[in-house]
This record gives sequence, C-alpha cells and structure tokens, in this order.
Amino acid sequence: MKPPLLLVLHGPNLNRLGQREPDIYGKTTLEDIDGMLRDEASMLGVSVEFVQSNHEGVLIDAIHHAADRGVAGILMNPGAFTHTSVALRDAVAAVGLPLVEVHLSNVHRREPFRHHSYFSDLALAVLCGLGAEGYRVGLRHLAHHTLAARSA
Ligand code: DQA
Repeated sequence: MKPPLLLVLHGPNLNRLGQREPDIYGKTTLEDIDGMLRDEASMLGVSVEFVQSNHEGVLIDAIHHAADRGVAGILMNPGAFTHTSVALRDAVAAVGLPLVEVHLSNVHRREPFRHHSYFSDLALAVLCGLGAEGYRVGLRHLAHHTLAARSA
C-alpha cells in the first residue's frame, strides 16, 4: 500500500519567512520548514507535497486538485487569508479533507482582526504561537489521524 499523501499549503507572504518581521515570525525560512517537514514525513511514513502561493485562486485550485488526486489531508497556514477568505474556506469545506491549521505567531495576542479564523471550525486541530514547531506537531497529528483512518 502506498503511503498517504499529505498536502502542505502555505498562504500569502510566507515565501518571505526569514526576512519578514522576524520578531514576530522568527528567522526560519519556508525552505527550512519544508525541509523539516520532509524529514518528519519520512519518519512518520507519509508523503508530503508543498504549495505556496500569494494568490487565493491558486490555493483554491490546489485544494480541489488535492481532492481529485486522492490526497489524504491538508496542513495549511492560510496567512492573512485566515481572516478574510470565505472562498478558501468554502474550498476546504467542499472537498471535506481533514485539515490542520497552523500559524507561526499566536494570533490571539495580536490585533483583533487576527482573532477570527474562517478555518478553525473546520479543522481537526489549530496550532498557533509555536513558531515552526507548530508545523511539525501539526503534520504529526494529521499523519496519525490519516493512518488511523486508513486502518479502521
Ligand atoms: C500567520 C498569522 C496571520 O495573521 C498573518 O496574516 C500571516 C501569518 C502566522 O503564521 O502567524 O501571514 O498566519
């Protein structure tokens, strides 16, 4: 049996990690995060694919495409679309894939407009404020969930 395939989706401005407001988001680059997740995935026995986009429609298409290709779950940091995008939320709801939502910063300690997420009520889990470690914990949770669902 092939290992389950998980999709890691990075929203807008996350391609600038490492340079972007390092006091808030840290010095880890997106490449570092993806490399760490690749290593973690191989230990967990899952495959991972990565998409980063600054464009809402590209992220929506990636979600539709994931469902059509039999992707087993999505780990997503929607960036600012977290707080604005009904369309991206609808894409997640439409495909019905298990979702884990990740944020590097603790959005609840920040501006009030960051306190609402269009995704959290759809998500299996929400991680925020753990920095890059949140992605690792999120991937582990999603992998365990997916592997358990497969053997049930
Ligand atoms: C973020 C938090 C969002 O409010 C912000 O717009 C981002 C990154 C985070 O990872 O902490 O782009 O999702």
